[in-house]
Amino acid sequence: MSSIQILLFVFGLLMFKYKKSRMHRFVFLSAMAEGPHVAIPLRLSIATAWPLKPKLHRVYLLIQEDRPQNLDDPVCDSIPVIDLAKPTAVHSHIQPVEAILKASKEFGFFQVINHGVPEKITTDAMNVLKEFFNLPSKEAIEYVPHTKGWIHTSSDYTKVGAHLWRENLKHLCYPLEECVQLWPNKPARYQEVIAAYILEIQKLSSRILEMICEGLGLEPGYFKDTSEVQLLSSNFYPPCPDPSLTLGILAHQDPSLITLVYQGNSPGLQALKDGHWINVGAVPNAFVVNIGNQLEIISNGKFRSMDHRVVTSPHETRISIATLVNPPLDCIVEPAKVLVNESEPSRYQARQYKEYVHHNKAFGDHTVTIQNAMISES
Ligand code: OGA
Ligand code: NI
Repeated sequence: MSSIQILLFVFGLLMFKYKKSRMHRFVFLSAMAEGPHVAIPLRLSIATAWPLKPKLHRVYLLIQEDRPQNLDDPVCDSIPVIDLAKPTAVHSHIQPVEAILKASKEFGFFQVINHGVPEKITTDAMNVLKEFFNLPSKEAIEYVPHTKGWIHTSSDYTKVGAHLWRENLKHLCYPLEECVQLWPNKPARYQEVIAAYILEIQKLSSRILEMICEGLGLEPGYFKDTSEVQLLSSNFYPPCPDPSLTLGILAHQDPSLITLVYQGNSPGLQALKDGHWINVGAVPNAFVVNIGNQLEIISNGKFRSMDHRVVTSPHETRISIATLVNPPLDCIVEPAKVLVNESEPSRYQARQYKEYVHHNKAFGDHTVTIQNAMISES
């Protein structure tokens, strides 16, 4: 090899290294400057241009014990799917009330289909939320807590300071007429579309709670004045470069009576059953219903409020709408009298819901403002 050839070879090698290090720097800066929402498409486009696997930025790395373990193991989707339109439940011969009772005891989770919520209502809600999360000006309003309005965040933290892989929008929903005007007004249709969604969820949740009354042997209308759709919490999970190292939401239980989640056709929600994480699965046009802490108390522990979490997808963006049906803040929550007797003594202390919310920071660190707004309302 001539000395010219050697020089050219060394120069080529240096250029290759230089480009590679610039690229690392670019990836790093884009991840530092932006949350999951905008950083990923950039990183993925770089990854296509260069033969390097995209890396999850270290701010999203969870500590070992918080990471989703065994993500590649087969985890069955065995959460019961209950058909509310038929006298018998899907895949079984038991009545819906009985099926709800069984699922609430065994899993603390079930899905409902043929629930009566028009598809247009759920599609419109998902579309308007997609538009909201895709708004270019959203960063400007980040962390602006409106006393009784709404909160948008793209950086929830774990207790050791790692970021979670989600954006979240929360707002109060009750009383609806008063709340609706405090919600985001961009996209322009947001208030109208989400108000229509909440009205339908109110109807569906009342129907489910009435079936729960029947199943538990509580008098009809037991939850009539003590269950309102109080809070909407919408989540946006962009595709994640490495789902094994992070989570959309950490393992938690809901501080509600029940929570209804609409997730379109995108799976990601998992529930803990007998020490194993199982997929809730995405059933077209279904609502996921999960038992919150307050209903566990009222049922005197017959129902279980289970740990659940959200794993991310390497390919898909996922949007979910969680609506929390809560008791009024001044309501005293305790085991229902008919479920307490000599052989089954009360397992929970009576406590005002307000006290529970306050004491447990029930809706997360970022939502202290919303909690305070709720508390000062009662
Ligand atoms: C929640 C929740 C599940 C989901 O918001 O409390 O558990 O699928 N959401 O996003
Ligand atoms: Ni939850």
